[in-house]
Amino acid sequence: MCCLVLVSSLLTQSIANAQLTVNVKNKGGEVVRQSIISNTTQDTIHLEFTKTDGTLITQFVDFANEIQIFRAIIQGEEERGFTGHQVMCFVTRFIRHEFISSDAMSKLRQKNPGAIRHPEEDKGVETVQTDLLVDLNEASLFSPYVLSLCSGAKESTYTRDSDLKLLAHTLGKDYTQLLSATSRRSGNTLQRCNDVAEIWRPCLCHYQTCIGWFPCGLKYCKGKDSTGKVVSYRCGIKTCSKCREFEYYVSRKQLCLWDEPVWGVTQAAPQQDSMHDANNMDDNNNDDEDSKVNGVVEETADKISDDANILKK
Ligand SMILES: *[C@@H]1O[C@H](CO)[C@@H](O)[C@H](O)[C@H]1NC(C)=O
Repeated sequence: MCCLVLVSSLLTQSIANAQLTVNVKNKGGEVVRQSIISNTTQDTIHLEFTKTDGTLITQFVDFANEIQIFRAIIQGEEERGFTGHQVMCFVTRFIRHEFISSDAMSKLRQKNPGAIRHPEEDKGVETVQTDLLVDLNEASLFSPYVLSLCSGAKESTYTRDSDLKLLAHTLGKDYTQLLSATSRRSGNTLQRCNDVAEIWRPCLCHYQTCIGWFPCGLKYCKGKDSTGKVVSYRCGIKTCSKCREFEYYVSRKQLCLWDEPVWGVTQAAPQQDSMHDANNMDDNNNDDEDSKVNGVVEETADKISDDANILKK
């Protein structure tokens, strides 16, 4: 990055609008429009999409605080006695290299915005068993962004004790202070909600959410700088999908009406075509691919502005 200077005025212009909107086919087969916005000043990434049932899913990464926040805003189902919506927030530790940096993200452009994206790698399902409730008024101890993102989840923002310990360790924060921003639910032998019949009984709810496509790594190409020296530069991304199954306490089963065995089965259907289109974010950019690998970068400058799978340097 240090060694290549290139950026036509055309390119500079598009940097200001650091947003990518992609079409992603989720595991259930539905196609969603997913937006990914990075803010390099804050060093954050905000990924968001709305499912066909109206559920809004947000993944927010705060790199500096090594925190990522998952938020689900679920529309009420009137026939099940719910109007309005239900919000859950899960504040977890962000493990470095799970997502490309906000800087790399801000330089990502696609050539064909209409294409449906397939991830190269399926990272499977991670189970996240939360055991703490976050007090939103103290949540800035984790990240300054929890409060605004999770303001609709006053009684339903969760985290894990094990994450607090790791955060305290990696960031040199005070564990007891982090813990003071949370509370532990009373009683620890709860049944899973799908084993509970009474709608008023407390139980452990499960909610699974999948991010069908996100940039999880960088690819490097070799090229020559203006003096003819061979240099390696970031030229593309590796993409992944990942699901998370959150387990969390609810004070009554009524708050967990989706956690039924039947629902879980349909959610878990594996995707067969995840390797399709593996190396290209775009389908028809072989020419560009060649020029990136062999070529003098300046020559590709005008292509880069609307290329797929390309990081500007
Ligand atoms: C990025 O974050 C800064 C600092 O919070 C803010 O002032 C700016 O408006 C944000 N930029 C965008 C594009 O959201």
